[in-house]
Amino acid sequence: MRIAVIPGDGIGKDVTAEAVKVLKAVTEVTGRPLELEFLPWSADYYLETGITLPPDGYDMLRNDFDAIFLGALGDPRVKDNRHARDILLGARFELDLYVNYRPVKLLSDALCPLKNRGRKDVNFVVFRENTEGVYVSIGGRFKAGTPDEVAIQEEINTFKGVNRIIRHAFEFATTQALTKVCMADKSNAMQQGHALWQRVYKEVAAEYPGITASHLYIDALAMFLVKDPGQFEVVVTNNLFGDIVTDIGGALQGGLGMAASGNIHPGRTSLFEPVHGSAPPLAGRNIANPMGAILSSALMLETLGRVDEARQIERAVEAALVAGETTVDIGGSRGTTEVGDWVAGEIRDPSERREGT
Ligand code: NAD
Ligand code: IPM
Ligand code: MN
Repeated sequence: MRIAVIPGDGIGKDVTAEAVKVLKAVTEVTGRPLELEFLPWSADYYLETGITLPPDGYDMLRNDFDAIFLGALGDPRVKDNRHARDILLGARFELDLYVNYRPVKLLSDALCPLKNRGRKDVNFVVFRENTEGVYVSIGGRFKAGTPDEVAIQEEINTFKGVNRIIRHAFEFATTQALTKVCMADKSNAMQQGHALWQRVYKEVAAEYPGITASHLYIDALAMFLVKDPGQFEVVVTNNLFGDIVTDIGGALQGGLGMAASGNIHPGRTSLFEPVHGSAPPLAGRNIANPMGAILSSALMLETLGRVDEARQIERAVEAALVAGETTVDIGGSRGTTEVGDWVAGEIRDPSERREGT
């Protein structure tokens, strides 16, 4: 299997190095190699060459690779974020990666930011629509830079787009034996676009009588995610709201550095990345938490059908948390590379086995 690896910018490079280390460890153990091809697309590459990605870039990703792993994109020198738009949002649009799958699973009670809550209370998934909404950048600026400026940014909601992500949420719940789906929108204020979400949600929910389908306005969802996250199993929402609530989800897992994601078109080449960004102040300092990236590599393996390898990675990450082999953002004292080394070492030689001998 061939994987395109795009470390990108800032801490994207730091955490990708650790995810790669862990991928190498697990594929060595199972004897099923992965062919990793590194692509230089990043702010540095754009500033040097004027190219964000080559003209055949999306075709190459789609046709030549089984999956894509991305660190993060974003650099203060690229003010308009053009390269991130072309590479990350471009891949989401052009490869039609309509499911943004963001599991929110607390792996250690000690990491829970909420009082008297723990692992049993933080275990749900968010499905974020990933190809529409305000992200399509339809609109424009009139009289830009003047006191008369008008800026328009349209939100696109199509039946096709809304239907497929809502259906995906219900199908996921069904296959995982879950019984609760919650859709969040802002249909009280956005009475056109979000009326479509209301209509489709009701129609699809009626096809799944075994699943309790609830609805919350997005502001209330944000509140309940903090107050009582244990009530959620599957959340489905639009592109922008999904972006925002999954940063809350990151915090519920102990910090943004813990959160993993997949940008998926079922059955096609998909892209996996941590939820966090390039965090420029942390870049290159061996302090970024690599767990979100490492867990994203597990999601990638799982989606490729290599479930046993995904589980090995998740087990090793949990062991690192138990052993306190973590970065400072989650209370440890190790560096990025030391955490990656520890997780890779745990995969090669699990501590349970070491204790047993
Ligand atoms: P960010 O996620 O990069 O960082 C926000 C804060 O979260 C950091 O300052 C840090 O305190 C913490 N954090 C994030 N990841 C961490 C990690 N692995 N370990 C420890 N702490 C971590 O968000 P931002 O500062 O809003 O954005 C920085 C740049 O990243 C921007 O250019 C933005 O557009 C971009 N971005 C890219 C992606 C992506 O490529 N998928 C995602 C989000 C933001
Ligand atoms: C994410 C990021 C991106 C998004 C940015 C970098 C455009 O925040 O993947 O969560 O908003 O989708
Ligand atoms: Mn985000």
